[in-house]
Amino acid sequence: MEQVYIVLRHREIPDIDQYETYVAHGGYEGLRVALEQAPDEVIELVKQSGLRGRGGAGFPAGVKWGFVPKDVFPKYLVCNFAEGEPGTFKDREIAEYNPHQLIEGIIIAAYAIQANTAYIYHRGEFTFAAQQLRRAIAAARAHGWLGEDIQGTGFTLNIYLHPEAGAYICGEETAQLSSIEGHLGQPRLKPPFPATHGLWQKPTVINNVETLTNLPMILRHGAEWYRQWGTERTPGTRVYCVSGHVVRPGNYELPASVTARELIFEHAGGIWKGHRLKAFIPGGMSAPLLTPEHLDVPLTYDDLAAAGSMGGSGGVIVLDDQTDIAWVIAKQVAFYKHESCGKCSPCREGTYWQKMLADRILSGQASRRDVELLKAVSDQMTNTCFCPLGEASRMVVQGAYKYFADELYQWVEERRRAVEPAAV
Ligand SMILES: Cc1cc2nc3c(=O)[nH]c(=O)nc-3n(C[C@H](O)[C@H](O)[C@H](O)COP(=O)(O)O)c2cc1C
Repeated sequence: MEQVYIVLRHREIPDIDQYETYVAHGGYEGLRVALEQAPDEVIELVKQSGLRGRGGAGFPAGVKWGFVPKDVFPKYLVCNFAEGEPGTFKDREIAEYNPHQLIEGIIIAAYAIQANTAYIYHRGEFTFAAQQLRRAIAAARAHGWLGEDIQGTGFTLNIYLHPEAGAYICGEETAQLSSIEGHLGQPRLKPPFPATHGLWQKPTVINNVETLTNLPMILRHGAEWYRQWGTERTPGTRVYCVSGHVVRPGNYELPASVTARELIFEHAGGIWKGHRLKAFIPGGMSAPLLTPEHLDVPLTYDDLAAAGSMGGSGGVIVLDDQTDIAWVIAKQVAFYKHESCGKCSPCREGTYWQKMLADRILSGQASRRDVELLKAVSDQMTNTCFCPLGEASRMVVQGAYKYFADELYQWVEERRRAVEPAAV
């Protein structure tokens, strides 16, 4: 399959970050189409397109918008540009090089739900992206696409940039709302969902950068056009971020039905240094790993779920056969322990114990019992954590055990022998 550029259009059109170039290539036409329709018609079109959220859960965008009550004001739109999931770096490329398409997408979504205020919650380190977005917002405003009475329709929208608070949990939608409100970035109980009780308890839609950037093209070309790629249940393209032990890491925008084999071996050039594939993590670090036997699984949400993993954020992390699974687990659980917000005890304590045991296994000081205990801790965390962060931390452990438990037992036995004093 060839790459198809729906959101990474800057790869084909130089200087598309400039307003004039963007407009010369159909920029703001999708918004014009949207403004000519009633907000409900826009929601219906996006439902028909089957566009699913690209932030992690894959929830259909139009369906989410449909939950927003019509008669409660004010309403808010939040663009989730936290991009905290390890192995994910697509939103940054979009915002840095194709910022107008994201801004246009935000205006379309805001119009559809009738929000007059939108926030872009952006990762703090992405200063160039923030600068590009600020420029794009200023140009859109100067040309009447933002502010009061947009293009004489009576619709008003202002977009504000909000730097992220430097924590992975602030990517989770309800923690993000708390952070924007000025509170500690910790998740809130759902239900009620943000669609009815979001920012300041008002109806709020939160969508990922890539989700929103698809909208201008869907509005311009229609739902059927968008559905020519991907599958019935995961239409369109996805930006797969390939990292790890491949020859050509990077972002690849491909029909969502592409297989892991084609992505890793054709587009990303295969495994580096002539090594072999040991495992790959298909949807950002929080997705359970898969093995070479899963290479022919299409990278759609449903196919990956059926294979025991998830589509998540589209970050594909590739591990070669030189990689020790004890090292992989230790790296992963260290991240979750560091990022656990501490609100609930199963996650706060569970991630602590997982890290402690994984470090012990990695160091060669562990026994077989520690390998069993790590599995038991992650079992006990099942469905007990307040939000998906703790759940993700245990899922990565379970995923590794599913395929590599023998390697872990072998690891502790060999390392233990190596560190034990020689018998006299
Ligand atoms: C711990 C955690 C971190 C998350 N981080 C991000 C993130 O960085 N960016 C993002 O778009 N979604 C992230 N999400 C998913 C959001 O909660 C939410 O589902 C998403 O922004 C909705 O947008 P979408 O429907 O367009 O995918 C995260 C979820 C969890 C549980």
